[in-house]
Amino acid sequence: MASKRSSVTKKFGILTAGGDCPGLNAAIRGVCRAAHDRYGMEIIGISDGFRGLIEESVRVLHPNDFSGILTRGGTILGASREKPFKSDIKDSDDIAGEKVAAVKKTYKKLGLDCLVVLGGNGTNTTGYRFAKEGLNVIGLPKTIDNDIVGTDRAFGFHSALSIGTEAIDRLHSTARSHSRVIVIELMGHKVGWLGLYAGVAGGGDVILIPEIPFDIQSIVRHLDDRAKIGKTYSIVVAAEGALSIKEAKMDKQERKKYRAEKGPSVAYRVAREIHDETGMETRATVLGYMQRGGIPSASDRVLATSLGTAAADLLARGDYGRMVCLHGNDISSVDLSVPEGKIKSVPVDHYMIDTAIAVGTCMGNE
Ligand code: F6P
Repeated sequence: MASKRSSVTKKFGILTAGGDCPGLNAAIRGVCRAAHDRYGMEIIGISDGFRGLIEESVRVLHPNDFSGILTRGGTILGASREKPFKSDIKDSDDIAGEKVAAVKKTYKKLGLDCLVVLGGNGTNTTGYRFAKEGLNVIGLPKTIDNDIVGTDRAFGFHSALSIGTEAIDRLHSTARSHSRVIVIELMGHKVGWLGLYAGVAGGGDVILIPEIPFDIQSIVRHLDDRAKIGKTYSIVVAAEGALSIKEAKMDKQERKKYRAEKGPSVAYRVAREIHDETGMETRATVLGYMQRGGIPSASDRVLATSLGTAAADLLARGDYGRMVCLHGNDISSVDLSVPEGKIKSVPVDHYMIDTAIAVGTCMGNE
């Protein structure tokens, strides 16, 4: 075994927060194996995101805890959407203040030199806010939505993309058998990266994303045009946050009322409207949490592992207050302020949208 390298960080805590995804355990393994084997650091595993710090639900992680987990889905630490800076009681800061104080108290009591957080834009934002409270924090970008500013890609995205694409492939065969229009809903409640990429990968005939409010008549014209050339079946790929032009003009209350009447799922709403407008037989499928489960893709294993070992190097250098990231083909890091409070939407001039249109895909707005 090689001799240990010097490290500024002697002991750190690690947590996973927000929605889980394939690749989290690969990232945990990357951080911990490098930190323990190369730098001799002591590792504290924190249960269920920030809730584990509030409740002091922690345990020492030993090599056998982070060995053999590369291909396991989910997270060995558990996850939650606990937001310490957000009070449970509307307009009251008291609870939030207590939770923030509890996190800082546990961090101090454990004698941590740093807190490593694996999560999406919300988790890295919380990490940055604790950095401003005086804690040393390092973030890793995790999400199937790929909506984190500061990194070209987050781990979890490619695994969900593979799952979504396989589902679309399967729907092609049954739609063709029955000459149906099938609408599949993928995750992405605010941004459409997953729907756009899976739609292109799966050859979706129509792709609907939140960034481009759709006109049902545009979809109907496209499906009619396909039928005229003998294409009696079609696949519509919709991100769960996709919305019609009419909905986009509604305020929150109106939209809530509309969805209470028409149904919460964009896939079922669009399928019904297509049937009403064209008479075509339609079906809807919501892929849901299938996109968050199972073993990580090879690409996500490589990205998660390399981000993890890069985080261990930052720990060793005492280079805190940063999020590791992918820039092009290189692993790098950005200040934690970069993702804070932001969300990376699909730019309407993004090349992948033009790619989809160039191969005949309808984006619902032509
Ligand atoms: O943020 C990732 C994500 O999977 C979204 O795409 C999805 O809408 C949301 O999490 C679901 O949240 P929860 O796991 O809390 O139901």
